[in-house]
Amino acid sequence: MKSNSLLQQSLRENAAVYNADMSLNYRRYDEQFIHTPAYTHIAGKISALTSAFQRPISILDIGCGTGRYFHALHNARSIMGIDVSPEMLREARTPFGAERLANIRVELVSGNFYDHEFGGRKFDFIYSIGVLGEHTVFDSHVAGKMFELLREGGVCFFSVVDIEPRKNAKRRLAEVAYPFLPRPVKAVLDKRWETCYMTLEQLTEIMNKQNFRNFEIERYISEDPLWEGVHLECIARK
Ligand SMILES: C[S@@+](CC[C@H](N)C(=O)[O-])C[C@H]1O[C@@H](n2cnc3c(N)ncnc32)[C@H](O)[C@@H]1O
Repeated sequence: MKSNSLLQQSLRENAAVYNADMSLNYRRYDEQFIHTPAYTHIAGKISALTSAFQRPISILDIGCGTGRYFHALHNARSIMGIDVSPEMLREARTPFGAERLANIRVELVSGNFYDHEFGGRKFDFIYSIGVLGEHTVFDSHVAGKMFELLREGGVCFFSVVDIEPRKNAKRRLAEVAYPFLPRPVKAVLDKRWETCYMTLEQLTEIMNKQNFRNFEIERYISEDPLWEGVHLECIARK
């Protein structure tokens, strides 16, 4: 499990970032975002994964923000979007492509996914884009919770930020020296390096410990100016 201090710090940072102004701008950007390759890529995957069910399904969007991808979901009987930012949720009441949601029950819930109680509810499709391993931690507690929330035959799709390309030469050198450093120096580095971002190995290790029937992880490089960088995308099946 990641440290509780990292979780608390990420919640504080999130509250500062996703305020009313930012949420309004984020929602406005949804209209432009649909013209980017990143949108085509992510919405394409969400559409394909949900189309494959060929029956009405219940869906959970973790860190739904403005509900950017709600309109890309197929076969949706119900959509629950959970987000820790009330301002982002306010924007999600009128998401992009709202006309496609006319006959779908959309429920917007304010809460921190990490400790939110779902009261035994289960979902067929759970997805989370740009949230886990980015604005909040992804650890075995979160992975286990996603597994529990998923129905048998269900599918999870989520992205985390790949930290590898973000490490500079100094950091790489320090990592080579790390095993030989005295404990107090290690402690300083551990604190400095603590982040929600992850390596492929860390993500794989966490997913290996869960009971998913199978999972696959792909690297995706997004060049969108507001969602840049290398992302690890995981699809897991129960
Ligand atoms: C970059 S936005 C992504 C929004 C949406 N998923 C998308 O792709 O447009 C990150 C969102 O995650 C939410 N978030 C961050 N930490 C969270 C947590 N612990 N629980 C629920 N939502 C969280 C933020 O409030 C914000 O709306």
